[in-house]
Amino acid sequence: MRLRKKPWVSGALEEYNDIVLIKDLLCAKTLDAGANLGEEMQKARDRMKGHWHEIFDRTAPLHVELGTGKGKFISEMAQRHPEINFIGIESQQDVLYYVAEKIREKELTNVRLLVFDVSHLLEIFAPGEIDRLYINFCDPWPKVRHGKRRLTHRTFLDKYSIVLADGGKIFFKTDNRALFDFSLEQFAEKGLVTDKVTFDLHKSDFADNVMTEYETKFSGMGTKINRCEIRFP
Ligand SMILES: C[S@@+](CC[C@H](N)C(=O)[O-])C[C@H]1O[C@@H](n2cnc3c(N)ncnc32)[C@H](O)[C@@H]1O
Repeated sequence: MRLRKKPWVSGALEEYNDIVLIKDLLCAKTLDAGANLGEEMQKARDRMKGHWHEIFDRTAPLHVELGTGKGKFISEMAQRHPEINFIGIESQQDVLYYVAEKIREKELTNVRLLVFDVSHLLEIFAPGEIDRLYINFCDPWPKVRHGKRRLTHRTFLDKYSIVLADGGKIFFKTDNRALFDFSLEQFAEKGLVTDKVTFDLHKSDFADNVMTEYETKFSGMGTKINRCEIRFP
């Protein structure tokens, strides 16, 4: 999801300080800049890693969506499940702004958002801290040489295996059959258990599906949606 650059977003996000915890502080560009993370960044990281229950001011299961897009999914899930703490991660600040708007509009207190790159997940979550990861319609990166950027690539799975709690799961949906097949191979290669696999979610008996923006768009064009749940044995 690419949006035209909106110079006003940085300022506008100031109004959402209670929801958006990281704006551009820990984005990949900054982190990749070098080993010197800087004092401010280190502090932000230390405030979060292993401290998410304190940030939400309650102990509750922690569900994280990777690549929220404009936030239709996370805002509806958080509304349906007030008993869960949700975190939305999105690398584009201009996109995350729309998520913050939805969370504020619905007056949800169980969501926090980060402009952040999923590759650096281990910087902000302690081992076993997350109960569920949602990966919805992640970028397919069709060129073979870009395969490592897919959020279901084994290098990402290694990171998820660290931050997920015992019994934690990944819920994965995509319209892209080639990406789905690739992902199933990656899960198998890593010895992960894949449950409830469907190649046509909307015709399956899976209840309680919350649609994302991409899902609405592609299923509206007749594309079948693939879905599965992944467990780490
Ligand atoms: C194809 S869109 C899907 C958005 C939404 N999940 C949906 O289903 O409508 C993928 C989103 O993931 C974000 N994204 C891609 N790679 C990311 C990464 N490494 N870290 C965080 N966000 C990422 C993109 O900016 C984009 O908004």
